[in-house]
Amino acid sequence: MIPRMRAVIVAGNWKMHTTPDEAGELARTIARRTDVAGVVRVLCPPFVGLQAVRDGLAAEPAGAGVGVGAQNVHHEASGAYTGEVSAPMLLGLATWVIAGHSERRRDAGETDALISRKVARAHEHGLRVILCVGEQLAEREAGRADEVVRAQVQGSLDGIDPAGADAWLTIAYEPVWAIGTGRNARGADAAAMAAVIRETLGTLGFEDAGERIAVLYGGSVSSANIDEFMAEPAIDGALVGGASLKPDEMAAIVARAGLTAQARAGTGRGGGSAGSAGSDAATG
Ligand code: PGA
Repeated sequence: MIPRMRAVIVAGNWKMHTTPDEAGELARTIARRTDVAGVVRVLCPPFVGLQAVRDGLAAEPAGAGVGVGAQNVHHEASGAYTGEVSAPMLLGLATWVIAGHSERRRDAGETDALISRKVARAHEHGLRVILCVGEQLAEREAGRADEVVRAQVQGSLDGIDPAGADAWLTIAYEPVWAIGTGRNARGADAAAMAAVIRETLGTLGFEDAGERIAVLYGGSVSSANIDEFMAEPAIDGALVGGASLKPDEMAAIVARAGLTAQARAGTGRGGGSAGSAGSDAATG
């Protein structure tokens, strides 16, 4: 098998922002401004904006390589679940989905056990999953960050078949205290946590996949700090919240990610993991 490098991914989580009209327009603008070789771009609008984003990207030449993701998915395929959206319903609208975002853990009471069912369901229906994990401030201050994140990775992937997971699974390390606060983690701390995540994946049987699975950083990422994360070989990109609504910010963030993608392509190595393989950068 030809060794492939881990993909460099920049995903935008628009959270509960943008009407469908705004979402379509924003997607086109961002696509135009972020057309950088080697970076997988993913835009995650609210459910009701998915079609508009798809349409907007289809109408934009630079939109061809941009993936569309949902911000959540139900753990069942169908049923009496008022207000919910299932994985099969997303087919044709999204190819990616975010699972276990800390805002859903906090606001919707999502547990690792529930998240593992969402991950399973999403994978079963062919969606690529960005699984979010991350500790609270008190947990970090108590020196428990590694332990908390390890448990989240274990619990959220419980029962998931590790075989071939690098083709569909991405982990986003998002320390809760850094999300939407303007206070980002240090690059070195994020890289250390990426190592903990990969080590945990290894213990779960992901083995090589643990090296091949992309680990993103998320939490107040902006054009001002993206360099700190992309300079870390263990970090494969970013999950961007607030800044992903701003085309200038996304342009700068993806441009910086592109430098890492180019460097990896040049050396044929996946940043700190010799011979590592990853998803191909063209699959949005
Ligand atoms: P933020 O959000 O970039 O606004 O901190 C990140 C996220 O929640 O994914």
